[in-house]
Amino acid sequence: MVTRKRPSGPYDARVAVYPGSFDPLTNGHLDIIQRSARMFDRVIVAVLVNASKEPLFSLDERVAMARDALRGEKRATVDTFDGLLVDYVGRAGAGVVVRGLRAVSDFEYEYQMALMNRRLNDQVETVFMMPAEQYVYISSRLVKEVCMLGGSVNGLVPDAVEQRLIRKRGGRR
Ligand code: PNS
Repeated sequence: MVTRKRPSGPYDARVAVYPGSFDPLTNGHLDIIQRSARMFDRVIVAVLVNASKEPLFSLDERVAMARDALRGEKRATVDTFDGLLVDYVGRAGAGVVVRGLRAVSDFEYEYQMALMNRRLNDQVETVFMMPAEQYVYISSRLVKEVCMLGGSVNGLVPDAVEQRLIRKRGGRR
C-alpha cells in the first residue's frame, strides 16, 4: 500500500507556527513566543478554533488576549486554525512547528504529536523550546482553576488576561 504524503513545499524554515488552545495565553506561552521570535523571521501564533469541549474563553477572546499581549512583538502575528495542524502549516507556508516543553510529563504527548505530524507531512519540523524556569509549572488549566477558586494569578499571565479572568469569576478580586 502506498502511503499518501501531503503535498510538499514550498515550506519556509524561517517561518514558525506556534499552535495551541491558549485558553488563556500565559506568561509561559509569551516566553516561548519571544524566544521563537529571536530564532525565526516570523512566528504565527495559531489559536485552535475547537479548543477543549468547553473553553473558558471564546475564540474571539483568546485571539484578542494573544493580540493584546503581542502588540510590541513585530515578528509575531496571531491567526486561528481548525482541522489538522500540518495542513494549516502548509497553507501558511511555514516550515516549523514550535512547542514548549516544560517538564518530562509533557514529553510523551509532545513526542507522539511531533512524530504523527511528521508522518503526515515530513517537510514540517517540530522544534521544542524550554520556557524560563519561573514558568515551568504554569499551565492554562492551572491558572484557570486557581483564579476561579479565588487565588491570585498575578505574574503568571499578562495583566489584561488577569483582568479578564477576574471578570469571568464575577469580579471578586
Ligand atoms: O497547547 P495545546 O492546547 O495542548 O495545543 C494542542 C494542539 C492545538 C497543538 C493540538 O491539539 C493540535 O495540533 N490540534 C489540531 C488537530 C491535529 O492536527 N491533530 C493531530 C496532531 S498529532
